[in-house]
Amino acid sequence: AAPRLIDAFARPITYLRLSVTDRCDLRCTYCMPERMEFLPRSEVLSLEELRDLAVGFIARGITKIRLTGGEPLVRRDMLDLVRALGRELGSGLDELTLTTNGMRLAEFAPALADAGIRRVNVSLDTRDRFLFARLARRDGLPNVLAGIAAARAVGLAVKINTVALKDLNEAELPSLIEWAHGEGHELSLIEVMPLGEIEGDRFDHYLPLDAVRRDLESRWTLAPSTHRSGGPARYFDVAETGGRLGFITPLTNNFCDGCNRIRVSATGELFMCLGGEGKVDLRSALRSADPAPALAKALDLAMRIKPERHSFAIDRPGAAPALARHMSHTGG
Ligand code: GTP
Ligand code: 5AD
Ligand code: SF4
Repeated sequence: AAPRLIDAFARPITYLRLSVTDRCDLRCTYCMPERMEFLPRSEVLSLEELRDLAVGFIARGITKIRLTGGEPLVRRDMLDLVRALGRELGSGLDELTLTTNGMRLAEFAPALADAGIRRVNVSLDTRDRFLFARLARRDGLPNVLAGIAAARAVGLAVKINTVALKDLNEAELPSLIEWAHGEGHELSLIEVMPLGEIEGDRFDHYLPLDAVRRDLESRWTLAPSTHRSGGPARYFDVAETGGRLGFITPLTNNFCDGCNRIRVSATGELFMCLGGEGKVDLRSALRSADPAPALAKALDLAMRIKPERHSFAIDRPGAAPALARHMSHTGG
């Protein structure tokens, strides 16, 4: 069998985040500018290339694949890819999942469930329609809420991702958490990360989650949870709501020691860290005369260059983003 993926710090890499498009039907202000420049379609991997790549990764020990974007459900042949990867479940692949903004989830939920998806992560920063429209620059709240309900109706577990934003959704966070837990959804709060140019300054709305946690602890009992997703979140069980609450704090905490993940952009760039520029070009390996050995060589190189940790900072107003690329380039 092909050797497993283990990096230079002895971390087994078992989780692939695969971006299928950099396009999105929202324009969240902390993520991208209104006039975002997207990749030419010719640069993006084809359905067959994405499938071959995923199957190659599974052969090297990847057991979990999360499809991301941009917004994955805006890609036209997305369902074909989900169905193709769904057929790999059980033969090496344990979990196939998706991170979505929820805009088209109502339409797709039944087919996603049929293809073998069990859980989806849905981004939702507010349940106030006007604040949503201001944050996402689109009037999308009704769609997203319908998408979440449709996902539940077909038996998908839903995890909500909420970026915590000073003066924007800050005051709403307790009620958002209460609502999510009441509906049976886990919710993770996320600190805004300095990826890519936007129109404003992310520092204006940067909200450190240790302050949010102190505020929540003055209302509720938060008990550290033993739950670990292998991801960046630290979890707490909230006694009063009966739900689980995650904190994703790239700027105030360190979660890199147990990192098990790599991410591929829609053009086949393999990024070794969300917080770093180090990457390996898989598209040229896929498009070479003899793809299998070219891919194996690229992955061996990748394992040697995965950094030990990221080096994010949002520490002063007006600073340039730590990284030039947007979150939507690698799907987070
Ligand atoms: P699980 O697979 O359930 O652990 O999901 P997840 O929370 O890792 O993934 P999701 O796509 O829901 O992402 C939630 C947030 O975590 C997004 O803002 C991602 O950008 C962020 N995130 C995911 N992986 C990393 C990482 O390696 N480093 C950092 N800093 N943030 C990450
Ligand atoms: N910082 C933090 N989170 C971000 N997201 C998009 N851009 C950023 C950023 N710059 C979030 C989305 C979604 C998740 C996948 O990433 O809101 O919840
Ligand atoms: Fe791993 Fe990089 Fe994410 Fe840290 S920031 S957890 S090293 S991918």
